Amino acid sequence: MDRWLARIIDAQGRWARPLGDFNQRWLSALFRPMPVIRDFLNGRWLGHPLHAVLTDAPVGILFLVIVLDVVGQRTAADVALVVGILAMLAAAISGAADYADTDGNARERATVHSALMVVALLVYAASLAVRASGGDDRTVATWTSIVGFLFLSAGAYVGGDVVYVLGNMVSRHAFRGAGAKWIALEPAELDEAGDIPEGRPVKAKLGINTLALVRQGETVLALHDACAHAGEPLSGGRVEGGCLVCPWHGSRFRLTDGRVVRGPSVYDQPAYTVRRTEAGGWEARRRSN
Ligand code: FES
Repeated sequence: MDRWLARIIDAQGRWARPLGDFNQRWLSALFRPMPVIRDFLNGRWLGHPLHAVLTDAPVGILFLVIVLDVVGQRTAADVALVVGILAMLAAAISGAADYADTDGNARERATVHSALMVVALLVYAASLAVRASGGDDRTVATWTSIVGFLFLSAGAYVGGDVVYVLGNMVSRHAFRGAGAKWIALEPAELDEAGDIPEGRPVKAKLGINTLALVRQGETVLALHDACAHAGEPLSGGRVEGGCLVCPWHGSRFRLTDGRVVRGPSVYDQPAYTVRRTEAGGWEARRRSN
């Protein structure tokens, strides 16, 4: 069944890819001038994607609409439908902020997800219009809310794929252990004096991990190289205002402790303490934060 569903979803790529690219362009242009609002919608303040929190409400409320319709609680069903539609709109706005920084296969599936949700919203709006027009026969009102819920469930299934199958908005460091041991650090480049080049990110190996180092005088600050948002190497980014800025979607992480100060990442970046060894090299270990 899962392969059959995956084939159906993948077959939507023909229209979902160009539509997703188009949506990404206008959404990026929309959110770029308002980084604080985008951060709020991503959920940086919560340390968790806001969209994932908000999506539960419409699913529960709109299922309740069907139950209330079936047991003949008309007014309660109509009120629940209005609340459900408002909850869907809130979830859609937060989802749009995540969607603006979603790429590749995840963008394609997110486009299918959002298209199904738009269809569900239109069906629910039609259901609301039928209810508002009055009349004793609730057959059309009830069936439209059932059809709306089928589209909503299909959209939720595809949205689940975007997170659980493709790992979108999942921390790239979810499975990384803390580790308290000092390990030899091997910078990828040194300056003429044999030191780590100053003021710009430099890649370095720390056992199986890759770090991005920034030397400021005698102090070497280090963050994990893979951006917590989508894994882009931070060593290709820039240093600005005490932060390392990701070259892909522009997340900013404080160099001293890895704290995320600008999204779309909602997760902090693993930070490392670096010290000189007696032999003249460097060693590092992960900070406990
Ligand atoms: S990979 Fe998206 S902000 Fe770094």
